[in-house]
Amino acid sequence: NQPQPLKGKRILITAGPTKESVDVVRYFTNHSSGKMGYALAQEAKKLGASVTLVSGPVQLDPVPGVEVVQVTTADEMYEAVIDRFEEQDMVIKAAAVADYRPKDAINQKLKKKDGPLVLELERTKDILKTLGEKKDHQYLVGFAAETNDLIHYGRQKLEKKNLDAIVVNDIGNQHIGFQSDENEVHVLTRSGQEKALPLGSKQDIANQLFEIFIEDMMGETN
Ligand code: PMT
Repeated sequence: NQPQPLKGKRILITAGPTKESVDVVRYFTNHSSGKMGYALAQEAKKLGASVTLVSGPVQLDPVPGVEVVQVTTADEMYEAVIDRFEEQDMVIKAAAVADYRPKDAINQKLKKKDGPLVLELERTKDILKTLGEKKDHQYLVGFAAETNDLIHYGRQKLEKKNLDAIVVNDIGNQHIGFQSDENEVHVLTRSGQEKALPLGSKQDIANQLFEIFIEDMMGETN
């Protein structure tokens, strides 16, 4: 009998990439497979939580007992997450959301011309930052994909986006992070903890992350 410390808690997790259309044929996306977010959803479910998974386009099986909301673009993910934020106890943003999208998505096929093509990109809304501004009782966790000065940039994001914790991936290391079944992360909390979780399966990392979040969350409410 697995202990269920998250029984009665609602947790929303985002996973996978977003896809931003250039025209009817082409789009921008990134290398996120969704594995980290799905592993977190599975673990949260095991620990007794009522879980909503807001998922970008991925090739993964649904997680039994978890409500899945499928989205494609950063804008759709924004709507899906903001709409459900109020009722959550914890939100974990493991998705790799596009920071930019083509300014004018064309609803035909873009014609080839001589010479280079210049596309104008505009910023998408920062979902995590908006959540940080809105949050009251929620425990808010961000992810960060960095190639250098992991702890420095991680702490900067934690402060800037008003998070309770941030999980930093070293995406300069090709054996971990995007796509792979394994990961190795640093976790920083607002309460000042800094932990390195050594190489392990994403499931294993998800399990250790919840141990840290639950302890930290309980500490805050005591
Ligand atoms: O999916 P996998 O293949 O398993 O890979 C896992 C992962 C590497 C994608 C994941 O663990 C990870 O690091 N996800 C965050 C990647 C990312 O977009 O990092 P970032 O530093 O660009 O963004 C920081 C945070 O802001 C993230 O929580 C992101 O969800 C959020 N964000 C970013 C842009 C935006 N417009 N809105 C956001 O909410």
